[in-house]
Amino acid sequence: MRTLRVASLTLVIFAIALVVAEHARWNSASTAVIAASQPVGIMPIGKPITIQPPLGLPAVPIPADNPPTAETIALGRQLYYDPILSADNTISCASCHGPEVGFTDRNSFSIGVGGKKGGRHSPTVINSAYNTLQFWDGRAPSLEEQAKGPMANPVEMATTHDAVVARLQADPKYVAQFKQAWGTGRITIDLVVKSIASFERTVLCGNSAFDRFYYGHDKTALSESAQRGLKLFVDPKKGNCAVCHTIGEKYALFTDNKFHNLGIGADINGNLNDLGRFDQTKNAADTGAFKTPTLRNIAQRAPYFHDGSFPTLKDALGHYIGGGNANAHLDKEMHELDFLSFDERDDILAFLNSLTAKMPPDVGPPPDLARLKK
Ligand code: HEC
Ligand code: HEC
Repeated sequence: MRTLRVASLTLVIFAIALVVAEHARWNSASTAVIAASQPVGIMPIGKPITIQPPLGLPAVPIPADNPPTAETIALGRQLYYDPILSADNTISCASCHGPEVGFTDRNSFSIGVGGKKGGRHSPTVINSAYNTLQFWDGRAPSLEEQAKGPMANPVEMATTHDAVVARLQADPKYVAQFKQAWGTGRITIDLVVKSIASFERTVLCGNSAFDRFYYGHDKTALSESAQRGLKLFVDPKKGNCAVCHTIGEKYALFTDNKFHNLGIGADINGNLNDLGRFDQTKNAADTGAFKTPTLRNIAQRAPYFHDGSFPTLKDALGHYIGGGNANAHLDKEMHELDFLSFDERDDILAFLNSLTAKMPPDVGPPPDLARLKK
């Protein structure tokens, strides 16, 4: 009896030591910001990866319960490009967030299973790792939670979490991949979305001509016109863009991670067709407010704004020149910019075009995508 108790006590101490050692390994292996919450649930077992941010971006925030590994990232990439996540095997995450168009899509409103249309334009996945809230209205607190949305959304992938899990569980290749990444072949929706989120945290764009000029101190990196455009972009008396599309001392996310009303979608009487952030908070000040998107790789991401109603960058700039659409909740930082000369407008466009960076090498479709084609 006694030896049994001693034995079980030793076992408990051993288990605690293992957990502590595991934490120490993660903390030392990664320079990234670790969230304060304690790890819960199943942890990845593979090779820990420190995601290196390119020039002009900060360390990637990593949740304590989902440190990235080579295996979870590879699995997440596979899932991201696999239409197996949709009801009829036709739509993958990449259908609406494709690498060839800056991880968005070309439609004003995204098209899901059966040609169904949603009510908003697809935002970019680029640098979404830095968003403090996900979606235009901030309704998901993390990439993990966000990824649960589209599978069960009737106008996107139009299936259920249970159906996705059952399908993946029936595929021996996926079972093996989950085992490698998570130490278990018992697939759950949590492991699916954690893998996808880890992949998304590698979809980073920095080191653009702007970054090489501003943070890399290469004076030749930016054209004279784009340099003038940068000055106009940050000047509160000129473009006043950086008040929301933030440029920091050490890095630039081009978003304040806040919500603003620019009057997009307002009719001539100031009536809004989408209340945006208000639907989440019920706070009147949030009426018609949408999250400030990053402007990284913006030139690749037409059409623009939450309703995709502006086909070119020039049109998007035109909205600001006009001071936004009048409505009761228009952001106080929106002013008419019609005093900007045509040359100055071209300079701002040249600056926006300088924000396009090369995609990282491993974020395109995985090599064996052919297997996935029907
Ligand atoms: C049918 C098109 C469609 C599919 C498929 C789709 N998305 Fe989206 N995605 C959207 C739209 C539209 C939004 C914005 C919706 C909103 O804000 O209300 C969005 C929002 C997002 C965001 C938030 C970005 C931000 O800046 O807030 C992320 C991240 C994202 N999707 C990733 C994914 C992943 C991962 C998948 C696959 C599991 C996926 N999407 C599948 C259309 C799609
Ligand atoms: C008051 C804050 C604010 C200011 C000032 C501001 N923006 Fe924006 N920007 C936003 C928000 C919020 C959105 C998304 C709004 C929406 O879709 O309803 C946006 C969207 C955009 C888009 C479209 C991005 C996409 O993913 O579709 C571009 C381009 C853009 N802004 C450029 C600029 C430029 C250039 C300036 C200066 C002339 C500027 N912004 C000033 C907050 C701001």
